[in-house]
Amino acid sequence: MNNFTFKIPTDIRFGKGQIECLAEELHKYGNRVLLVYGGGSIKRNGIYDDVMKQLSGFEVFELSGITPNPRVSAVREGAKLCKDHNIDVILAVGGGSTIDATKHIAASACYDGDPWDLVLDRSKVKAALPFAVVLTICATGSEMNCGAVITNEATNEKLEINTPLLYPRLSICDPTYLYTLPKIQTAAGAVDIMSHVMEQYFQPNDEAFITDVLSEAVMRTVVKYAVVAMDDPENYEARSNLMWASTVALNHLLTVGKGGAWSVHPIEHVLSGFYDITHGIGLAILTPAWMEYVLDDKNKHRFARYAREVFGVAQQDDMLAAKQGIECLRMFLGDLEMPSKLSQVGIDDSNFHLMAKEAVRTSGISSRAYVKLTEEDVENILRGCY
Ligand code: NZQ
Ligand code: ZN
Repeated sequence: MNNFTFKIPTDIRFGKGQIECLAEELHKYGNRVLLVYGGGSIKRNGIYDDVMKQLSGFEVFELSGITPNPRVSAVREGAKLCKDHNIDVILAVGGGSTIDATKHIAASACYDGDPWDLVLDRSKVKAALPFAVVLTICATGSEMNCGAVITNEATNEKLEINTPLLYPRLSICDPTYLYTLPKIQTAAGAVDIMSHVMEQYFQPNDEAFITDVLSEAVMRTVVKYAVVAMDDPENYEARSNLMWASTVALNHLLTVGKGGAWSVHPIEHVLSGFYDITHGIGLAILTPAWMEYVLDDKNKHRFARYAREVFGVAQQDDMLAAKQGIECLRMFLGDLEMPSKLSQVGIDDSNFHLMAKEAVRTSGISSRAYVKLTEEDVENILRGCY
């Protein structure tokens, strides 16, 4: 097991009605709040009203319209609002896109240059405004991690900024706030959770047994509850288990003692950077193709373990079990009504070469991944999904 440090400063308030603590907690940081949210779902489902009730004693400024795959132009707007109005604390109400934009705004508000500089060089992040989260979709784990993924629409780059200054101070996770999620977002979120765990599970170090067992528990949770939540949106048991699974999947707990670069996310980020597709859908298309491409005699034991522990495959032979595991994942993704081909989401092969180059350039996929992949490998995987 590798050495590790583990410190997460985020205060999580989980469960029905936890919004009631918001006013008291936010007052610790000041009175001038920038409220950040997306395209309006929070107005339609009543979460906006719950939040505004809590903010009645504050001076509130708003930044709405944060898009999925959030853009640096929105971050520029948010940073300007913070500077112009001397904001004390930012409140993100939404999912990964709103939270990530908020993280980047928090850092950019304390920086004199252009926000994109901070993405290209995280050492330039010297301070950040405090911010809190009200989570409305479970997928990314952004509510309890310090990463933010931002798209530069001028260059098609979708890159991560990651520094300990970007942990939320507080995240309110009320599973009833997930009840209005469309089926497709519930499913795409479940795929994202599953993929985060797999990215950490399929890493070179096989000795972190405790981390692997925790990972298997989270993956089994997703398999058990994702379809239930899709078919029965107000099922509190399903929503609450998935909500906590998303947080645990990417708050660093499942990577301790392990190490290495991720394999599928770097390819997906290039896809959604170029084509603005839903992150979880891109992962659903790529993940089985990646598994099939990298499975070999050297790693079949790990894929077999995944098959047995996550999907209950009983096959004794490792290679056969591994292949059955991939098939089980494909069936699960089918139950989630996810597309399995890039052509189904309007992506043709014209940029495969360019995207493969970009995935290798912007990640450790060729140097530190579970199975190291060249540009040619990544292009082959993309062709395998076409
Ligand atoms: O914009 P609104 O109107 O809010 O609608 C959103 C959006 O259309 C809707 N939605 C959210 N909560 C809802 C709701 N609709 C009805 N009822 C609710 N309660 O869902 C849509 C998707 O929202 P978004 O925030 O984009 O989803 P998600 O949480 O999946 O975030 C995806 C983004 O996060 C990045 C992804 O790349 C993508 O840009 N990621 C962030 C990570 C991180 N910070 O750690 C890691 C991930 O791997 C990922 O890359
Ligand atoms: Zn993800």
